[in-house]
Amino acid sequence: MKVLVTGGAGFVGSHTVVELIAAGHDVRVVENFCNSERWIVERIERITGQTLVLDELDIRDRAALLAVARDYAPDAVIHFAALKSVSESTEMPASYYDVNVGGTATLLDVMQQVGCKHIVFSSSATVYGQPESCPVAETAAVGPGNPYGRTKLIGEWLIRDCVAAPGSTLSAAILRYFNPVGAHPSGLMGELPRGVPNNLAPYITQTAAGQRDYIRVFGDDYATPDGTGVRDYIHVVDLAKAHVAALNALSVGTDRELTLNLGTGRGYSVLELIETFSAVVGHPIPYQRQGRRAGDIGECWADPALANRVLGWRAEKSLQDICADAWRWQQAIPGAVD
Ligand code: UFG
Repeated sequence: MKVLVTGGAGFVGSHTVVELIAAGHDVRVVENFCNSERWIVERIERITGQTLVLDELDIRDRAALLAVARDYAPDAVIHFAALKSVSESTEMPASYYDVNVGGTATLLDVMQQVGCKHIVFSSSATVYGQPESCPVAETAAVGPGNPYGRTKLIGEWLIRDCVAAPGSTLSAAILRYFNPVGAHPSGLMGELPRGVPNNLAPYITQTAAGQRDYIRVFGDDYATPDGTGVRDYIHVVDLAKAHVAALNALSVGTDRELTLNLGTGRGYSVLELIETFSAVVGHPIPYQRQGRRAGDIGECWADPALANRVLGWRAEKSLQDICADAWRWQQAIPGAVD
């Protein structure tokens, strides 16, 4: 298939581009590098052994996007391009709506103009807000507690409305990620947070590498076995493979709309993650308990049964794999490369 990938140099995007190419798909990327590095393209090329065709543009630039879509005539789009920080979304909500909702609307319009029939959409477990119980199935109530989550939920609605429109030939897979972590096993690609990481995993690896003094453990009084927050950490390569499987499912044509949780089905606490990383790194990683972080929830882990069944996919990598790959990447992050 010819697959247009928006945001293909980002964390999940870059790993998905690698898996798409490995699966024999033809890939073209559109990317504005607002939260990714240009040298990732060369890393993708090194891993895949292929030249990557990439157009530098903003998905809100309708004319530029349409020109690429007309030229490439993709069979499918995988749509990653978005702003993704929960905390930043509370500070600049209009930008989040502009990029995440406006950008998605522009993309859908362009897809319709060029007759592109399939979209795989990068959504988030954050659409569930505070889940009533875990594991969380796709039938659980939605109610995101922050602007970022609301932009993802509106993106889902937008896509479903386009699928349901009279005469529409669009089909869609909406993928709700739990907590993407890990890195490519080659050590050539991984997460590249700018500034102080908001997320736990990169904060742990930066602390292990001596870049930060200690990990701040936010909250130890949640109703969880050790009192710290529990999440479903999924290896980014497992997540990337799910996108390839979703594309295959859409091309078979049985379902016109799929909404699927992508997680492992297992939750780990903050302390369990720190312990596993410490074992991989070979020394204890310092941490300090602090009060809860505003907006955080106690536990959130997936029921991935639907994705397992519909996609014939399941997460295969362990927490040890996650930590080993993330640590390999942390040690290789090219301070040397600008
Ligand atoms: N945590 C710490 N210290 C830190 C950072 C995080 O103790 O420095 C804790 C949090 O309190 C939470 C857990 O580690 O219990 C995970 O926190 P993250 O920030 O890594 O991830 P979140 O679950 O808060 O949010 C992530 C993504 C969101 C996405 C959501 C989906 O950041 O974009 O998962 O569930 F929407």
